Amino acid sequence: MTETSTWSQRFESALHPAIASFNASISFDIELIEYDITGSQAHAKMLAHTGIISPEEGEKLVTGLEQILQEYQQGTFQPGIDAEDVHFAVETRLTEIVGDVGKKLHTARSRNDQVGTDTRLYLREQIQQIRQYLRAFQSILLEIAEKNVETLIPGYTHLQRAQPVSLAHHLLAYFQMAQRDWERLGDVYKRVNISPLGCGALAGTTFPIDRHYTAQLLDFDSIYANSLDGVSDRDFAIEFLCAASMIMVHLSRLSEEVILWSSEEFRFVSLKDSCATGSSIMPQKKNPDVPELVRGKTGRVFGHLQAMLVIMKGLPLAYNKDLQEDKEGIFDSVNTVKACLEAMTILMGEGLEFRQQRLAEAVTEDFSNATDVADYLAAKGVPFREAYNLVGKVVKTSIAAGKLLKDLTIEEWQEIHPAFDTDIYEAISPRQVVSARNSYGGTGFNQIKQALLDARSQITE
Ligand code: ARG
Repeated sequence: MTETSTWSQRFESALHPAIASFNASISFDIELIEYDITGSQAHAKMLAHTGIISPEEGEKLVTGLEQILQEYQQGTFQPGIDAEDVHFAVETRLTEIVGDVGKKLHTARSRNDQVGTDTRLYLREQIQQIRQYLRAFQSILLEIAEKNVETLIPGYTHLQRAQPVSLAHHLLAYFQMAQRDWERLGDVYKRVNISPLGCGALAGTTFPIDRHYTAQLLDFDSIYANSLDGVSDRDFAIEFLCAASMIMVHLSRLSEEVILWSSEEFRFVSLKDSCATGSSIMPQKKNPDVPELVRGKTGRVFGHLQAMLVIMKGLPLAYNKDLQEDKEGIFDSVNTVKACLEAMTILMGEGLEFRQQRLAEAVTEDFSNATDVADYLAAKGVPFREAYNLVGKVVKTSIAAGKLLKDLTIEEWQEIHPAFDTDIYEAISPRQVVSARNSYGGTGFNQIKQALLDARSQITE
């Protein structure tokens, strides 16, 4: 190793090749190039604005940086491992383009505040994109819900049939989860959108910089109040990964339901050929690969959140190279969440069909109207607990007799309790069972109609 180092004169020899590659982040942080350039342009403008460099020098740096972006977009600038990271790659190329003035770019700046700035600029944009994906997902859920107010589906607790609900109600539950995800990302955005630029390596700088000026140029809402915190804070990354994990929890739950619904045991939905795959050996099979993959990919996003928490735990102030490990998890989470939202939106929108006939049968073939019999008696003055016990007995004898509640004769009902009248049949019909749950937020049709209107206005705000 006789080559000279890229570092200051303090170093006599170059890095061991294996260590150089171990140390380098260029293979993945090249993703930040656009933001690195934008951040550097703002920094150069600020240096000129404050008189730290001349206006001409500032101009040269800004134009040179612009050229690097074009070269990158055209594919002519492809920095290799020797660049170490995107920040060095850009700075080195800049000096090749504009000459020695390029060496002034890093005045009053460190890669520590630079990488923090880049990551925030990247995440800021990605958050807005993910929010759009969430909106598209919500729109599809809402569209299907609007068409299926009257479609009934068994509602479950403990994965046992409990009470029928409107399919719209079921889908709106996922709509609300996505709404919280959308809001949560908006909240994370506030903490992402704070500028660490100008915090320097850790302690600030001796130059008369203007941090507010760069923050304004880069559209940051505010600036870090403490330079040590500014360069070493990754709370915003943890918060983002947490919000991303929550999105995945929700998508994974829906995935699980679609997988169950498409099984022979449920048969509530049929998968369209465009979103299902076959088996290489069993010709009869149609597999729900999309929701299975979404459910599976959830694990890696949770993993990235866990990794980030562990990276931060026990990290002394201020910057430590451990922080370079934040990026791959963030990038992968961003890409995974977007891909999963897109796939689930397509799956729900055009990849499956609810089997209306089968759903209509499903809500009439069980005892999920038993609560309504108890409610019927309770409404006629029988204490609820007494009514509940009575109906429990009826269910038991009906099961033994191979009957459903709707099959009992009026004589049989009146034998159970004289308060029963012929209107019991209507009261326990699935449609009425659903319709009657008209309490706020319930599945009653009037509630659903209002909920649909509210949901529509939530996404058009
Ligand atoms: N590639 C580094 C990272 O991603 C940039 C900052 C390096 N700073 C340092 N002091 N070595 O974190």
